[in-house]
Formats: sequence, structure tokens, C-alpha cells
Amino acid sequence: MSTTPAEAQLIADAPHIPVLLDEVMAALSVQPGETHVDGTFGAGGYTRAILAAGAARVFAFDRDPDAIAAGRALEAESGGRLVLVAERFSRMREALAALGVDSVDGVTLDIGVSSMQLDQAARGFSFQGDGPLDMRMEQAGTSAADFVNDADEAEIADVIHLYGEEPRARRIARAIVAARPLTRTGELADVVRRAMGHHPGMPKDPATRTFQAIRIHLNRELQELEEGLTAAEALLADAGRLAVVSFHSLEDRIVKRFLKSRGGGMGAGSRHRPEAIAATPPSFEAVSRGIRASEAEQRRNPRSRSATLRAAHRTAMPAWPLEPAASAPVSSHHPPPARRGAR
Ligand SMILES: C[S@@+](CC[C@H](N)C(=O)[O-])C[C@H]1O[C@@H](n2cnc3c(N)ncnc32)[C@H](O)[C@@H]1O
Repeated sequence: MSTTPAEAQLIADAPHIPVLLDEVMAALSVQPGETHVDGTFGAGGYTRAILAAGAARVFAFDRDPDAIAAGRALEAESGGRLVLVAERFSRMREALAALGVDSVDGVTLDIGVSSMQLDQAARGFSFQGDGPLDMRMEQAGTSAADFVNDADEAEIADVIHLYGEEPRARRIARAIVAARPLTRTGELADVVRRAMGHHPGMPKDPATRTFQAIRIHLNRELQELEEGLTAAEALLADAGRLAVVSFHSLEDRIVKRFLKSRGGGMGAGSRHRPEAIAATPPSFEAVSRGIRASEAEQRRNPRSRSATLRAAHRTAMPAWPLEPAASAPVSSHHPPPARRGAR
């Protein structure tokens, strides 16, 4: 399905249309007086709905200082019910402990980048408009330009292969290294298109997977997701609700596996510690299947086409002991490498 001009205008007019909002709110089942965490504030779509449903307090996290700054007016209007926290959601436990909160009734995560981030060429997330090669959600640390210009060819290939699931990662990495230095998103997109053989009218721009991969790598997005899920597990009170929206299979796999194991659906348990895990009582129940956007929402908001919601209820059992991270990061340039046969 491609985006019609009317759909494109709809997206351009809204800072960020919340995806699967009705389904997320049904899963969170907010009760008056409750305390909730929105781990990914963005433009505040979920937070507004949680406040409107009667939550007494919402702690809304975002690692992007621009999202926090844009939310300050809503925070001021909320009469103390909304507290914005400029922090990664993987650190929600520590951040809430500092605010005197050790348990909450609901946690929601809406993974990935917001439309505001994608639409601002200066943030360097998108190749639709030319901008500096940046892609840093926190606006600090290693930029995309640092990575493509400094990392060695094998590291670049690994990142593109693992986080972009790009079969021609090696060829793209070779082309990137040959074209260095690269400073603009437009330059990187052109290098990838040339390496892949781009034809006008192709359904998907060949640069899409490479941009996704570099963004996920720089922002440690999969590690954040794993750590955010275990932080939510530790914070949620008995019968607390977890709702997670993800946008591609790499993320959804992590959420699905986490809820399947914590919901007692892993049979023999973890290959790391099979006996211990098999004996651990489920910390989640009522684990949902993957919920997709309705056709009407997909027409209204094309971004929702790739979204999957997974939700569950916390049991009274203790949080599970931590397992080694499954999504080993790539590259010694930024996080450490795990070569997986990039071609
Ligand atoms: C898809 S948008 C969320 C949109 C939001 N649900 C709404 O309705 O407006 C994702 C947001 O989460 C933020 N984000 C992504 N990863 C994060 C993390 N690990 N910790 C905190 N914020 C994160 C991004 O900066 C972005 O603003």
C-alpha cells in the first residue's frame, strides 16, 4: 500500500498521530486515581488519553529533550498530575525511585521514532529531506556521521545486516567506506541507492533498511527495549497492565518472547538457565496476541500499518531474575560487536 497525497497531508498536519490508541487504552484499562508510566511521551498522545481516563498521576519519559520541551505546557496545565522525565525508559525504576515511587498500575511503551523526529530534516533521521547525518534521539553521543566515517567496513556491514535485516549489507558497507567522508543524509541515501541499483518506481527506497539499522544501533534501541521491559516488570503492581507498541519484527520478537516466557509459555524455559526458569512462576498473565491496526486506522494513518500491540497483566509473583541480553549489540565503535555473518 502506498501513501496517497491526502494521507501524506494528514500526516504532515499532525505532529504525531497516536497509533492503536483505542486498543492501547483498552489494554491499560486506566482506573481513576491510578499511577501510570508513559515510557515514550513523544507528542503526548497516550499521556493525554491516560490523564483523560482519570489517572491521578502520569510519569511520562522521553529521551529526546525536544519532546520534553514541547510537553512542558501540558505538564503545567495538568495541575501536578503529569510529571515529565527527561530520561531513557530503561532507567524508569531509578528515576521513579528518586521521586519516591516504587510501584505503578500501568506502563506503556510506543517504540521507535516519532513523526516529529522523522519530519525534521535537521535531526537527520530521514532521507526524505536532506539534513546532517545525526539520528541521535538524545542529541548527544555518537552521531550517524561519526559512525559511518569512523567505523570499519565489517562493523558497518554487521550493523546494516543485523538491525536492517539487509541481505546486501556488505556491498552497502563497501560503498559507504569508498564514499567517505559523508556528512548529509542525502549523501548516504544516494550511496546506498547506487550500491543497490535504485529504479524510480521501486515500492520501497533501498536506503530505508540502512537508515533504520544505523538509527537502531546508535540509539541502542533493542537493548533499551529489553531493559525497559524488565524495568516495567519490576515496577508494576499486582494486576498492573503493560502495553507495548512496536514497529518492526526485530522489536516485536523481543516483546513477544519476553511476554511468552514471563507468561509461562516457554515450555522448558531459557537455554541459559533452563531449570531455574522452568521453576519460576509467571510474572505476567492474560498475555494478548499481537494486535494490529484496523483497516480504517491504516487508511487514516499509514504509519499504523506496521504497528503491533502486545499487552499483559502483572501477576503477584516476583519479577524474574535478569537473563543475558539476547539482542547483542554490534560494533566496537559504539556498543560491542557480535558478528553474525553479514553478506
Ligand atoms: C513513537 S514516539 C511516541 C509517540 C507517543 N506515543 C504519542 O502518542 O505521541 C516515540 C518517542 O519515544 C522516545 N523514545 C524512544 N526510545 C526511548 C527510550 N529508550 N527512552 C525514552 N524515550 C524514548 C522518542 O524520543 C520519541 O519521542
